[in-house]
Amino acid sequence: MKQIIRDLARRKNAIILAHNYQPPQIQDIADLCGDSLELSIKAAKTSADIIVFCGVHFMAETAAILCPDKTVLLPNPDSGCPMADMVDPAGLTARKKALGNIPVITYVNSSAAVKAVSDICCTSANVIDVVNAQSADEVLMTPDKNLAQYAAGHTDKKIHLWDGFCPFHNNLTPEDVTAARQQHPEALFMAHPECPPEILALADTIQSTSGMIRYAQNSAHRQFIIGTEVGLLYPISKANPYKQFFPASEKMLCKDMKKIGLKDIKNSLETLSGEIRVPEDIRKNALGAVQKMIDLA
Ligand code: 13P
Ligand code: SF4
Repeated sequence: MKQIIRDLARRKNAIILAHNYQPPQIQDIADLCGDSLELSIKAAKTSADIIVFCGVHFMAETAAILCPDKTVLLPNPDSGCPMADMVDPAGLTARKKALGNIPVITYVNSSAAVKAVSDICCTSANVIDVVNAQSADEVLMTPDKNLAQYAAGHTDKKIHLWDGFCPFHNNLTPEDVTAARQQHPEALFMAHPECPPEILALADTIQSTSGMIRYAQNSAHRQFIIGTEVGLLYPISKANPYKQFFPASEKMLCKDMKKIGLKDIKNSLETLSGEIRVPEDIRKNALGAVQKMIDLA
């Protein structure tokens, strides 16, 4: 199956991108794995005709926003993100107005329609830079309240929160972290900024998914507790073969990130099924917010 997919990708001039949470067999056949920011930048730069996005809907949609002349495929269109569904354009526009039209910073984990009514996007890797690049003293951040609270600790700006969250990161408890630390007393604890403030307060470092991989590579430590979705254990172990990684909680498993199988990729490449299209008026407005973020990188 891997050979068939690689041959199909070559013949059709397709690039396969996979998020760091994807299952091992998907990451192994991908041209590039990464965090949300890296994958967006790669999508923007590729010369391929087809982008097969192995991740969730908003990621493929971001690629479609950046690459209107390319075919963007999400091999299982049911792969969504519960956090992205926690904000809608009408609600966001009303809140922005109520706050006096302050700039809206929208996490990429959001729909194209929400990005289209936002001033700039951010990811977990660049959120602090994006917030501090704003000239306004007050901003509204959506949809992740935890990411916003993390950013609030690294800026003088007033940040208004939206009440969204990732169900898997938000459910990690201090008791989970304490239990993991008791089992692995030598390990450093890395947390993703989608975790709640009481978890981030316990972290030795706060990183995006690819940030965690690089941090482990550059650290003299040999053991790490990973406070993010358990899929990261595969690429982080692969990149650090002589180090050990333990999940902060086995409960941090995002079902949407596991919906794509090798068969789906093959079918999608063969029939171009699962194409993600964004209406042009929405795409143009969303591109403004995504491009501003990429230009800061
Ligand atoms: P990053 O890989 O950008 O850190 O994002 C994590 C995430 O939850 C994506 O859905
Ligand atoms: Fe969305 Fe959380 Fe799954 Fe990431 S891990 S795709 S934020 S639900």
